[in-house]
Amino acid sequence: MENLIADRMSDIPKSFIREMLKIASQPNIISFAGGLPNKDLFPTESLTAATENVFKIYGNDVFQYSNSEGFSKLRAYIAETYSKKNIDIPAKNILITNGAQQGLDLIGKVLLNEGDGVIIEEPGYLGAIQAFSLYNPYFSPVAVSEQGMDLQQLELAISKRTHKLLYAVPNFQNPSGITYSKENRVGLAEIIQKKNIFIVEDDPYGELRFSGSPQPSFKTYIPDKTIMLGSFSKIIVPGFRIGWIAAPDAIFEKLLIAKQASDLHTCNFTQYIIHQYLQDNAIDTHIERVISTYSEQCQCMISSINRFFPKNVQFTQPEGGMFLWVTLPSGISAMDLFDIAVKEKVAFVPGTPFYINDKGDNTLRLNFSSVDTATIETGIKRLGNAMRKLQENQR
Ligand SMILES: Cc1ncc(COP(=O)(O)O)c(C=O)c1O
Repeated sequence: MENLIADRMSDIPKSFIREMLKIASQPNIISFAGGLPNKDLFPTESLTAATENVFKIYGNDVFQYSNSEGFSKLRAYIAETYSKKNIDIPAKNILITNGAQQGLDLIGKVLLNEGDGVIIEEPGYLGAIQAFSLYNPYFSPVAVSEQGMDLQQLELAISKRTHKLLYAVPNFQNPSGITYSKENRVGLAEIIQKKNIFIVEDDPYGELRFSGSPQPSFKTYIPDKTIMLGSFSKIIVPGFRIGWIAAPDAIFEKLLIAKQASDLHTCNFTQYIIHQYLQDNAIDTHIERVISTYSEQCQCMISSINRFFPKNVQFTQPEGGMFLWVTLPSGISAMDLFDIAVKEKVAFVPGTPFYINDKGDNTLRLNFSSVDTATIETGIKRLGNAMRKLQENQR
């Protein structure tokens, strides 16, 4: 039945990570492979209470069809949160989506014809690579480092061909954990300002900062060109699938039509519950708890790396979020390391799937949010052993 499948499905990155996650979830394996928030921090009791209140307040309406834009009170809450950060986005420009992930798909649907240029971070978020790939664009990868996007590479990429969008996760990037500096943001905005390109600023981790200070959104520099993606997945719960697109007028109506065609609207019930939860609870206090836990877990991972990894291994020092990024000496393959690591009962995600063109063979991603500190220490020790074994095998 193979020839029945549409051409657009042919180049989608393989679900190779899913295969790895299967291995990583075997018993006794310590997994740094997933990208999951820490479930012990989910505010289950408060969400239960919010659900009861929702029924008291809205009755049967919670089960009715609704409008495609999303629950008006939730959109107003999101607009108000932006305004507290001096970002001016009216509620009318906010579209509630099935997680930020659906936002990526809708943006691809609305903007991309086959062969259109997309600038993507290298390494970049696999979910974005997958979502945009369905529209068969031309990807121009631009390297990111501890400072942010490589602006020389960006200028070069832009000078070579036209692009419709640039996709960036400027805060605690998935997969690398890096954050764009202010200077880098200003430089990037200046380059984009002169071009006919949208920038998609995907910011699911922005609230989870445990050191350093917040950096300005691209929206403050190039408001008409910036499409923002947000999500409650990392600060409340991912399972409700509530995220949003904050889009300029020039594209909002088109996104709304694409949303309507795709699923009519995001689940009404969970939108009401999230909104009620935000009314009844001090979200800042909850976020502080998440930050303090992740900060401890990240610190534990870094100090364990310093103790147990060979000294020729490099790694990023995130100021927030859920991931850090490891670079092995060149010529050492993270795929080979994966096989040895699984025997040592520890797992991670090799870096290659986060690159277009199969690069990054000597890189890997470690998640620190979903593993407690004692387990992190044991797991990093095992991974250090696996690295030594691999380096010895290669001598
Ligand atoms: C950079 C980035 N964007 C979007 C998402 C998807 O988030 P959501 O749960 O809101 O769909 C993730 C999830 O891991 C992510 O890391």
